[in-house]
Amino acid sequence: MAQLWGGRFTKETDQLVYNFNASITFDQKFWKQDIEGSRAHVRMLAKQGILTEQELRQILDGLAGIEADVESGRLEITQEYEDIHSFVEANLIDRIGDAGKKLHTGRSRNDQVALDMKLYTRDEIYEIDALLKTLLGTLLSMMEEHIHTYMPGFTHLQKAQPITLAHHLGAYFEMFRRDRLRLADIKKRMNYCPLGSGALAGTTYPLDREYTAQLLHFDGPTMNSMDSVSDRDYVIELLSALSTVMMHLSRFCEEIIIWNTNEYRFVEIDDAYSTGSSIMPQKKNPDIAELVRGKTGRVYGALISILTTMKGLPLAYNKDMQEDKELTFDAIDTVKGCVALFNGMIATMRFRKDVMEESAMNGFTNATDAADYLVNHGVPFRDAHGIIGRLVLYCIEKNKAIHELSLEELKAISPVFEADIYDAVSLKTCVEKRQTIGAPSEASMRRSIEAGKAYLSE
Ligand code: ARG
Repeated sequence: MAQLWGGRFTKETDQLVYNFNASITFDQKFWKQDIEGSRAHVRMLAKQGILTEQELRQILDGLAGIEADVESGRLEITQEYEDIHSFVEANLIDRIGDAGKKLHTGRSRNDQVALDMKLYTRDEIYEIDALLKTLLGTLLSMMEEHIHTYMPGFTHLQKAQPITLAHHLGAYFEMFRRDRLRLADIKKRMNYCPLGSGALAGTTYPLDREYTAQLLHFDGPTMNSMDSVSDRDYVIELLSALSTVMMHLSRFCEEIIIWNTNEYRFVEIDDAYSTGSSIMPQKKNPDIAELVRGKTGRVYGALISILTTMKGLPLAYNKDMQEDKELTFDAIDTVKGCVALFNGMIATMRFRKDVMEESAMNGFTNATDAADYLVNHGVPFRDAHGIIGRLVLYCIEKNKAIHELSLEELKAISPVFEADIYDAVSLKTCVEKRQTIGAPSEASMRRSIEAGKAYLSE
């Protein structure tokens, strides 16, 4: 057991208590950030005359040695230390002796851990953002490729109106774009440095907190030391944003799973992204899409968990907060894995354009356009709605689509129909007439794609 605080104790910690309390098994994940924070701290201490230049040199060299050795595997982070902070400090003292004992001057593990967690999550936000950007790039090139791939658009999972695959993909482009904006927004709010807040009440040393903040690329120091050591709002915001990313991925996965069924056959998932069955030789299952959908629960769980942990905590630091780590790390790793795999899955997925188009032609997706045709010929919309309703009923009885009826059949339902009705209800017309901003016509899609490109090249 290697602890930083034995002085006022006369008995050894019970082994089970030690194990229960220790966090090294998981907080070693931010060992690099811990060293980075210590570096900034001692630089500031030396600038303020609290450490000598020689002590600063020794400590920086010692920290660099630890970093290099952990990196290369020569130094192993083991469970004999309570947490990553104790590990680094104890190793430093082993290496450089007395100067190492000055590392923790004017610092508490409370502001230290608050800093480490911020540095770690901030780094991860950049990584997740880069993965989302790659995904947006994939979606955008798929959109360009499928401007003329017709398919049914659904409401209530019932065929509604014809759209294109580009249009459908474009909806997800917008969702993931907002996810990136949310991450950027969180970064703005969280980017203030808690170091120098001490245990809760600041310190008596003349620390330059602005300098430390600057060294660590924060926008400034946090403004209340009590809040600094007990704020986990940014963790909650991050887990909320990550939950939203997962929700978006999960919706898309659900659609892919449906599109991949024998009944739909809209897509074929690449062999590299599907799995088989141990008993049913014919099977090719969408396991990756299902796993991404399933893992959404884990990330939601992390959010609810930290919200619940925080809700009754009095100021300032409480050990409960140590619980923020495992679930945040797991959520971050889960999201990174899911975004990367999802990107690979859709990039290699084959779309059966013929099946999608055929599906769009059936199921009366052009009924609204047939009604609009009548309206354009002077029939009030409510009457047109009724006429087309009867027309659909007739088609169902005859097992035909609207465009398969003869002009006589059409005229028997409404004399307003003329030969140009067939063109008016064709897939191409239905899509191309929808020219408003955000609609599926080629012109509208090209506008959206251009806007998407401009955004991605920012
Ligand atoms: N492992 C602790 C955490 O994650 C570090 C802070 C310890 N502070 C304390 N007062 N025991 O929160």
